[in-house]
Amino acid sequence: MKNRVGITETVLRDAHQSLLATRLKTNDMLEVVEYLDQAGFYSLEVWGGATFDASLRYLNEDPWERLRTLRRVLPNSKLQMLLRGQNLVGYRQYPDDVVREFVQRSVDNGIDIIRIFDALNDPRNLECAVEATKKAGAHAQGTVVYTVSPVHTIDGYVETAQRLRDMGADSICIKDMAGIMMPAVASELVTRLKKEVGLPVQLHCHYTSGVASMTYWAAIQAGVDVVDTALSPLAMGTSQPPTESLVAGLRGTEREPELDLEVLNKAAGVMNRVLEDYKVPSRGVDTQVLISQIPGGMLSNLRAQLEQQKMGHKYDELVQEVPRVREDLGYPPLVTPMSQIVGVQSLFNVVTGKRYAVKSKELKDYITGWYGKSPAPIKPELLEGETNTVITDRPADHFEPLLEKARQEISEFVEQEEDVLTYILYPEVAKAFFVERKKNK
Ligand code: CO
Repeated sequence: MKNRVGITETVLRDAHQSLLATRLKTNDMLEVVEYLDQAGFYSLEVWGGATFDASLRYLNEDPWERLRTLRRVLPNSKLQMLLRGQNLVGYRQYPDDVVREFVQRSVDNGIDIIRIFDALNDPRNLECAVEATKKAGAHAQGTVVYTVSPVHTIDGYVETAQRLRDMGADSICIKDMAGIMMPAVASELVTRLKKEVGLPVQLHCHYTSGVASMTYWAAIQAGVDVVDTALSPLAMGTSQPPTESLVAGLRGTEREPELDLEVLNKAAGVMNRVLEDYKVPSRGVDTQVLISQIPGGMLSNLRAQLEQQKMGHKYDELVQEVPRVREDLGYPPLVTPMSQIVGVQSLFNVVTGKRYAVKSKELKDYITGWYGKSPAPIKPELLEGETNTVITDRPADHFEPLLEKARQEISEFVEQEEDVLTYILYPEVAKAFFVERKKNK
């Protein structure tokens, strides 16, 4: 019996989030689902992350309807989603009643595996979601967010994973959103997690810097259970390594995945046709990330914002400011929502020419503990003149329940219970969507 590696296909979530600003339409997804469902994947990542916001805001699609549709057309597949812990699929922390309801509804509508992460690796921000996932009968995958800094160590990641296990997580994901994990690190981390945590381990890398395929090879040799890849038409660049290449590359080894290359080839053909209607960017290798650690998507956003301010000439300055702000803030990993908080503050600092003269509300909340515990202490000067209450305990313990109040506020538009959650997450966008929906009835 071979000890095969499992593959999670990301083409319906992370791949188009990374390359197409999350704009892949449900109707276009339906073209390829037949092949994805029979190829033999461990799971398909299809929901969560930015897809919720983007489908509602830009595609005029109800994200819950998308999930139900995918569930219907993918009867043989385990469906997976990405959840930002206490931030759900939004950018701020929500009360526990909302987290519980969101998780339950996600499972009710078809999700089998929930990958739960927190940008700060603060276990207190995962606890409610992990518990709710277990209660709903789904697989709770606890995530360790990988970054490189003077305070992040392999010991620290192992310890975080142990806490997630003790909390009830069914497996551990290592999340390398910037694509900067080197093969030797993957080898050591996977080996130690397998030995010291005792749960299945899944590795999620982005291709950005060009090392991810090598990192996967090393992780697979070290015994990783599952890796994430994207079908070739939406692989590489800031997305994942290509599925077909990994499948072929592992042929004749002990860990050869059980996937049908013929079926994958058909899926790729269909996808290529679908993508003729989209603007797929060039998917080369960006090695700046190996030094700056700024994920590709964040960098292009910052450049666009700087140009909007007619300050495009300050781009180099901004690229240098990002790691400085990150250091001041105690080295948070640059993933949602921290990538936005660090990015916006760096932009403010460069545009005003005076560091921290203007602070975003989110930054104020972060430095006073409302996003959780920073990996290293925050520079004390940043707290001077701060009027926010400083907390050190679990942020969500301070929030009042919200579900009932929101249900009343939006009652005239509610056609399904899920609408209340949509409204809580994106009040204005949701309301506009509901008004439109009512009109078109
Ligand atoms: Co990702």
